[in-house]
Amino acid sequence: MLASRMSKVSISPTTQLNARVARLKTEGKDIIKLNIGEPDKSTFDYIKVAGVKAIADGFTKYTVGSGIPELRRAISEKLERENGLHYPIDQITVTVGGKQAVFASIMSLVEEGDEVLLPVPCWVSYTDMIKLAGGTPVFVETKEAEGYALDLDAIRRAVGPRTKAIVICTPNNPTGAVYSYEDLKALGELACEHGFYIIADEIYEKLVYDGAEHISIASISPEIFARTITINGFSKAYAMTGWRVGYAAAPLEIVKAIQVIQSQTTSNTSSIGQKAALEALAGPQFDVDRMVDVFAQRRTYVCSRLAKIPQIRFPAPKGAFYVYLDVSALIGRTGGGKTLTSSLDIAEYLLDEALVAVVPGEAFNLAGRIRISYSNSMENLEKAMDRIEAAVAKLR
Ligand SMILES: Cc1ncc(COP(=O)(O)O)c(C=O)c1O
Repeated sequence: MLASRMSKVSISPTTQLNARVARLKTEGKDIIKLNIGEPDKSTFDYIKVAGVKAIADGFTKYTVGSGIPELRRAISEKLERENGLHYPIDQITVTVGGKQAVFASIMSLVEEGDEVLLPVPCWVSYTDMIKLAGGTPVFVETKEAEGYALDLDAIRRAVGPRTKAIVICTPNNPTGAVYSYEDLKALGELACEHGFYIIADEIYEKLVYDGAEHISIASISPEIFARTITINGFSKAYAMTGWRVGYAAAPLEIVKAIQVIQSQTTSNTSSIGQKAALEALAGPQFDVDRMVDVFAQRRTYVCSRLAKIPQIRFPAPKGAFYVYLDVSALIGRTGGGKTLTSSLDIAEYLLDEALVAVVPGEAFNLAGRIRISYSNSMENLEKAMDRIEAAVAKLR
């Protein structure tokens, strides 16, 4: 019999949909995948070369669990240079993607009965990670009308004696919100006042548009810095999702706890990935800039097309590569011989009718919505927008 903790968690609600996408693809259907959570671009060449060199040089053994010192030094310098954060290298640990950094942070801080605040919609994994640690996720609404900005009043109301932490993600998956300095400052001050921690997932930091600025909450004051775990990685900025390199930077006590978890579970992340990540930071950054420019063009295009569909509403996303659409006006309509009763139904309808895969809002704890990703070629995005428009028009 499985451990009882397994009854509290489940595989992502999108898995079933993904299985259907895979089946339709093997049947030869021309599915356009707007459900993708990674850059469509391949890892930049100079980074690949560093990975190949690491293999050729025989850099293929265990490394120190917290990551090779030269990579931690490069991360420390990056955080200082780009984020205004002063983390000495012993306050940085390299992890198996940003995902392990989030999980190990939660495991280090949260115990049975603790509450962790989650502004919703939120990335699907936070909820289950909190439950695996024995904690209780407490969902807090955001301000949809203001582009899913943090709602400080709602957060204040949700704080209680068992509040241990809040997990924030800016730029945000799934909404594309980029939190403002003022809101982050107010949140940081609230955390200091009530003594809870801030787990700041900044994995999409490079992907911001229209002059939006990414702010690292830990940079706002020494008091906030002392309560924050800053999480980042190489997956999104350098198109390195498969290399599995991320990091956490935190107060010494917390980083040491994360390292204990790492040492007893994964040891180090891939030695080869670490050398590649080092080159990602050391090398020229123009490939990143070019990728961001391409995403910016796609974002403009997709938003302009979606804005012409009267049944769909959305705030313009300022970051990441997603648009979070309010499709609640489609609920109750009929299409494909079925009445649509949820965003899961809408996602299924779009898959069957438009051959476009999207992620239903249920996956992010805010239903009546769907997430589309514009991490796809312009050609596919044009086709997808035509198909979505036609499929929505067909609904009765
Ligand atoms: C919000 C968010 N955080 C963290 C991650 C984890 O990224 P990785 O483990 O590839 O670094 C993802 C990946 O999709 C994400 O969307």
